[in-house]
Amino acid sequence: MALLPILRYPDPRLYKKASRVAEITEDIRALVHDMAETMYAAPGVGLAATQVDVHRQIIVIDTSEARDTLLVLINPEILAREGSQYCEEGCLSVPGVYEAVERAEWIHVRAMGLDGKLVEFEAETLQAVCIQHEMDHLQGKVFVDLLSRLKQNRIRAKMQKQLRQPA
Ligand code: NI
Repeated sequence: MALLPILRYPDPRLYKKASRVAEITEDIRALVHDMAETMYAAPGVGLAATQVDVHRQIIVIDTSEARDTLLVLINPEILAREGSQYCEEGCLSVPGVYEAVERAEWIHVRAMGLDGKLVEFEAETLQAVCIQHEMDHLQGKVFVDLLSRLKQNRIRAKMQKQLRQPA
């Protein structure tokens, strides 16, 4: 197990599209374990493989209060979506920035689990937001890209300042 370095916005590697996972190998299993450890340590509610510079369609999520319900989604697809909600989102690749973004309120998801089996389920509220946010990462999209040009410029400047003054 290891903590993985997380790419910081606007790193161009965050804009790469992830490819599908054909098979659950030992390497994929190890990556998922490290991603989960990295997400819990950060702490965050979700992490996409893209954020640790692995361009495969894998996300880990835990939106539970007790932080004990890990959801691993491989090759996730949204089969149906309904409604809309605005929720303040943050991202481990954009530390210290929280902005409201429009997302579907309800989604029907299909994904492969770590056991290689396909699962289908419905998600709403925070979990739905989180899944949509992480799935965007796999498409090479950061939530900042959904904001106004003015906000994007401000966030870019803030991130560049953070990089110059490491914690
Ligand atoms: Ni994110």
